[in-house]
Amino acid sequence: MAVDVLLGLQWGDEGKGKIVDVLSKGYDLIARFQGGPNAGHTLEFEGKKFVLNTIPSGIFFDNTLNLIGNGVVIDPITLKKELDKLKDAGHDLLAKGNLVIGKKAHLILPTHQLLDAASEKKMGDGKIGSTLKGIGPTYMDKTGRNGLRIGDITLPNFKEKYQKLVDKHTSMLQSLYGEVADFSEREAAFFEAIELIKKFELVDSEQLVNNYLKEGKKVLAEGAQGTMLDIDFGSYPFVTSSNTTTAGACTGLGIAPNKIGDVIGIFKAYCTRVGGGPFPTELNDETGEELRKIGHEFGATTGRPRRTGWIDLPALKYAIMLNGVTQLVMTKADVLSGFDKIYACTHYNYQGETIDYMPYDICSVEAEPVLKEIDGWNEDLTGITELNEIPAKLQSYIDYLEAELEVPVKYLSVGPDRKQTLVLH
Ligand code: GDP
Ligand code: IMO
Ligand code: MG
Repeated sequence: MAVDVLLGLQWGDEGKGKIVDVLSKGYDLIARFQGGPNAGHTLEFEGKKFVLNTIPSGIFFDNTLNLIGNGVVIDPITLKKELDKLKDAGHDLLAKGNLVIGKKAHLILPTHQLLDAASEKKMGDGKIGSTLKGIGPTYMDKTGRNGLRIGDITLPNFKEKYQKLVDKHTSMLQSLYGEVADFSEREAAFFEAIELIKKFELVDSEQLVNNYLKEGKKVLAEGAQGTMLDIDFGSYPFVTSSNTTTAGACTGLGIAPNKIGDVIGIFKAYCTRVGGGPFPTELNDETGEELRKIGHEFGATTGRPRRTGWIDLPALKYAIMLNGVTQLVMTKADVLSGFDKIYACTHYNYQGETIDYMPYDICSVEAEPVLKEIDGWNEDLTGITELNEIPAKLQSYIDYLEAELEVPVKYLSVGPDRKQTLVLH
């Protein structure tokens, strides 16, 4: 057996949570492999809505186990909040036993969040637009070989290790940013949450996943963020601090590259981005505002308005290449209903040339989008359940994208609910 991977091909918020939930019934294990509570994955079914930050999106199916993999960074306080909310809604994961946590996942400390905020403040206008969840500083400590891991919470000297790292952070806050840290309340909440985490099964993700494969069980890796936010290949430095691509699933779970099966790449019928950084097809006009309004484009984690624009084919082709995408999912097609004309960016005008790839210096040199005009459709898509109800003009848009991207669009999402999903192939 092989691990299938589902990940975002744009700048995040493509609808990963919804589609993982739709696919979960067919999998024995859903595993998050990177990122942390900077993610906000939204699921809707039976009139209920859930936003998950750290917990994988397969928790609503009783026969599916969920793993927070070693590549994830965990804020115990946020994780406890997620667990408490789910419990209040009748989903007690501790009682159900359908969530396990990788021992090698790193811990986000309250002081990591203070460092994140202080660093952003110092950058002023050039700031990344971080979610301020402490992601960057935690991955810095991981690669700097200073980090604390989930497995450490059961050690007798955990508090000493914690204090050592906190002392480093408080002196950094003072010397680099002139800030005196006060986090006593969050520290108490941190240790309270740690006690809850101790009650869950803590596992070696690499053993668990590979044993599942040996036993012939089906595994789906759930990505967070999107390819254009990848630390190596995204619009650096306006990126997150992990590998959001398929390669990240290998390191974030402990799977060998030859154990990767299908790679399901998800994209919106248009494009959004939240935070700073280049966005060639951005619409800073009424059309952009309309997309934001109709698509409810406000961050699931921070509530910030998302920047909106037309679909960007050079960026999508780049993402498909980097991830080895074998199937596509297009979401939010319903949001485009009623637009007389829609547009797709086919190339960029860049330093007097027309190019069809993402240039290295996209953050400092303008890449002006070359747009192709496409006929829009008027029909409301949100109630369609059969393929023959797909409007002809939407079908032409899908056909055009399949020809350009050279990968089939297997699923079409026409609304936020689990049921508003069509299988095209
Ligand atoms: P994720 O981070 O990739 O899981 O995506 P988010 O949950 O942050 O953002 C996607 C938003 O779009 C959520 O509010 C979803 O409920 C919603 N959504 C997902 N698919 C569709 C769709 O096909 N149509 C509409 N209108 N909304 C959708
Ligand atoms: P999901 O999984 C959209 C963006 C932030 C910022 C940059 C760095 O819901 O798609 P960080 O907090 O990682 O230091 O922020 O990355 N960002 C996201 N944008 N969706 C996300 O996750 C994101 N996670 C981080 O807005 O620009
Ligand atoms: Mg999101």
